[in-house]
This record gives sequence, C-alpha cells and structure tokens, in this order.
Amino acid sequence: MNIAIIGAGNVGGALGKAWAKAGHTIIFGVRNPGHGKTQPPLAEIGTAASAVLVPDAVRRAEVVVLATPWPAVPDAISAMGELRGKTLIDCTNPLSLAGDGSLSLSLGSTTSGAEEVERLAPGANVVKAFNTYGWENFADSSYPNSAGLKPVMFYCGDDDAAKGQVSQLAADLGFEPVDTGGLGMARSLEPMALLWIRLSIRDGRNANFTWARLTR
Ligand SMILES: NC(=O)c1ccc[n+]([C@@H]2O[C@H](COP(=O)([O-])OP(=O)(O)OC[C@H]3O[C@@H](n4cnc5c(N)ncnc54)[C@H](OP(=O)(O)O)[C@@H]3O)[C@@H](O)[C@H]2O)c1
Repeated sequence: MNIAIIGAGNVGGALGKAWAKAGHTIIFGVRNPGHGKTQPPLAEIGTAASAVLVPDAVRRAEVVVLATPWPAVPDAISAMGELRGKTLIDCTNPLSLAGDGSLSLSLGSTTSGAEEVERLAPGANVVKAFNTYGWENFADSSYPNSAGLKPVMFYCGDDDAAKGQVSQLAADLGFEPVDTGGLGMARSLEPMALLWIRLSIRDGRNANFTWARLTR
C-alpha cells in the first residue's frame, strides 16, 4: 500500500519504519520536509520512504495515518486536502495535561477523538487504531515470554473496506487485529490508552508491555 503518515514523530516514525520493512511505501506528510526530525526515519527506511508536504503526501496515498499531537489535529486535517474515499487511520489520543501534571482525556464517554476527527474530515473512512499503547510496541511487537500469544491491535470504524486495510496493516506488524465495532467504540479504546500510560508511568516508564486477548 502507499501510506501517507502525517507526522514523523514517535508514532509516525515507528509505524513508517515497521510498515516499510513489511513492503509498504511510506510517504511522510510533514510541515517541513527538510526538518531534522524527519531525517532519521527517512535515512533508516531508504528508498521506500519520502517526505513531502502534507497535501502532497495525502494525494499520493490510499491510506492516510494521522499521528500528530491532539491539539494539532484540526490544522493537520485541514492541510490534508481532499480525503473523500480515503482510509484515515486515527492514532491520536485527546490527552489533556492538568496543572498538577496528571493526565486525562479532554473528551470522552459521550463522544471521542475519533468521532471529532470524522467530523473534521467529511467523506474519509475513519478507523481508530494504533492508539492503545506506546510506539515502542509498534516498532517491535515481539514478546519472547508470551507463550505464542500475539499482542492485539484493537480498531473500530464504520467502513468495512477501510477496516479490512487496517486489519491487514496490523497483521503485517505481527499483531492480532481485533475489530471492536463502529467508530463509537473509540469511546472505549481511547481510555485504554490512558490506562496504558498510567501503568507505564507507575512502572517507572516501562513501555515494553501491551494488550493480549485470551479466549476459550
Ligand atoms: N507516543 C506514543 O507512544 C503514542 C502511542 C499511541 C498514540 N499516540 C498518539 O499519537 C499522536 C502522536 O504522538 P507522538 O508521540 O508520535 O508525537 P510526536 O513525537 O510529538 O510527533 C508528532 C508529529 O506531529 C507533527 N505535527 C505537529 N503539528 C502538526 C501539524 N499541524 N501538521 C502536521 N504535522 C504536525 C510533528 O511535526 P514537527 O516535527 O513539524 O513538529 C511531529 O512530527 C498523539 O496524538 C498521541 O497521543 C502516541
């Protein structure tokens, strides 16, 4: 797939490197293609990646990945241009940092970041995914002590074809893709990110753990 990744930070860089290894073409959509932060993932991926301005990246891709901080989401989406018919994977979390340093979600329960993204991107097929744990686990999804269990990648959205693409992209990185339902399920997936962050901080910023599913 041709994948436009908007934001070449922790999440965008890790996903880009991992998907390039799986054979996909990565187009980083950034505000400044010559900027230092974009150069490490570009150098690591080589010819399977390029960095261009945001609207150019979106034009060239069938799948667009939104990987910016939450406050930048409106600007980033408005810079994308025409999104009608494209799959838009929303990796963001509407995190809010209080004065005492505690984290929470700035919205939730009766809506979600993903539903706000859908409102800002009319015609795009929004799928929430790659948001429930830290980027370190996108970069390397192997867990030597997992006794064969795969880490899960929860996702949700309203368009089956778009969800099929996301399922494939998650499987390509070694995850067990789990379709949790319509986009409104993001109201449950975004708090999972907060849980993961709080556990990670409690454990001395240990980022090397993820979610798995046991069934019988
Ligand atoms: N960190 C994690 O482990 C993790 C895991 C899951 C989900 N998330 C969520 O994923 C999102 C990204 O997190 P991150 O840690 O990757 O952030 P990050 O390292 O700060 O990277 C954010 C990227 O977004 C770009 N950006 C900022 N404003 C933009 C705009 N208006 N238009 C286009 N690009 C813009 C930045 O570009 P510049 O270099 O030009 O500033 C930067 O490359 C957040 O919403 C976060 O909650 C994070």
